[in-house]
Amino acid sequence: MAPTTFLPTEETLREDFVRDEDERPKVAYDQFSNEIPVISLAGVDGEERDEIRKKIVAACEDWGIFQVVDHAVDMELVETMTKLAKQFFALPPEEKLRFDMSGGKKGGFIVSSRLQGETVRDWREIVTYFSYPIKARDYTRWPDKPAGWIPVVEAYSEKLMGLACTLLGLLSEAMGLEKEALAKACLDMDQKVVVNYYPKCPQPDLTLGLKRHTDPGTITLLLQDQIGGLQATKDDGKSWITVQPVAGAFVVNLGDHGHFLSNGRFKNADHQAVVNSNYSRLSIATFQNPAPDATVYPLAIRDGEKPVLDEPITFMEMYRRKMGRDLELARLKKLAK
Ligand code: SIN
Ligand code: FE2
Repeated sequence: MAPTTFLPTEETLREDFVRDEDERPKVAYDQFSNEIPVISLAGVDGEERDEIRKKIVAACEDWGIFQVVDHAVDMELVETMTKLAKQFFALPPEEKLRFDMSGGKKGGFIVSSRLQGETVRDWREIVTYFSYPIKARDYTRWPDKPAGWIPVVEAYSEKLMGLACTLLGLLSEAMGLEKEALAKACLDMDQKVVVNYYPKCPQPDLTLGLKRHTDPGTITLLLQDQIGGLQATKDDGKSWITVQPVAGAFVVNLGDHGHFLSNGRFKNADHQAVVNSNYSRLSIATFQNPAPDATVYPLAIRDGEKPVLDEPITFMEMYRRKMGRDLELARLKKLAK
């Protein structure tokens, strides 16, 4: 079944996808780098724990990104989730549009999203599920096709919540805190699964699958296929690397919440997704966020450090300020043109 895309199929990229020169990709989707550490979680509850934690500390101080393997998430489940996700994007447009999210609905399908205030669109389609807390599951917004997808998404969400808790335990200890510290700071943790489908693109050098950003939450667990397209920067976008896809691995990104709780010691990874003209690409991002009323303030302030925040704020307020900044940046950019 050939994927049905809503994105324009002309050979020349439509104007609303063309990025300003400074935002366009600098490195190709398949020019892989292995600078991002790949960390095995085998033995995490035993004698390997100290070693694993040290590797995570180094990766978070350096990049705010690492990959994990031997994570105990069942590969058969991951493969089924991927297969069904691909089948969803291959559905006829009217089926996908039954779950259209325009008009502010929570969960469902979006074509070529735009970041707050932006006029340029991302070259992607997404389908998103609000999966935790369980009371947030509005099944009227969960696509029911392909058949059998809902229980698979539920199982996937549960396994990824388990992996996230393991990682939050390690990150808490990495900050010199008790194992439960980060999970407690998140209160009743939110989880949102976003499945990204990036179709082939006629002029990939002019656009992005997903514009540069940091994730707002605590951590994000990203499953990507073998095509490549996730890029990271640690020098404010001057240079980029394309993360080497590793079969069966999850890419772990630290978000703004994780960054603030570590008092800035751990980076909130700046990243983006590029597209290409040879292959479509699928990625599944699982966002682990604190509850909206959870407090955002450093949990660990080391000797000689000043707190990176002036006062404790709620996660909702942190997000509101981030969106406000994005809007202001987009406005200034338009003015400067
Ligand atoms: C994301 O940042 O949410 C997705 C990145 C990717 O698809 O590689
Ligand atoms: Fe992201």
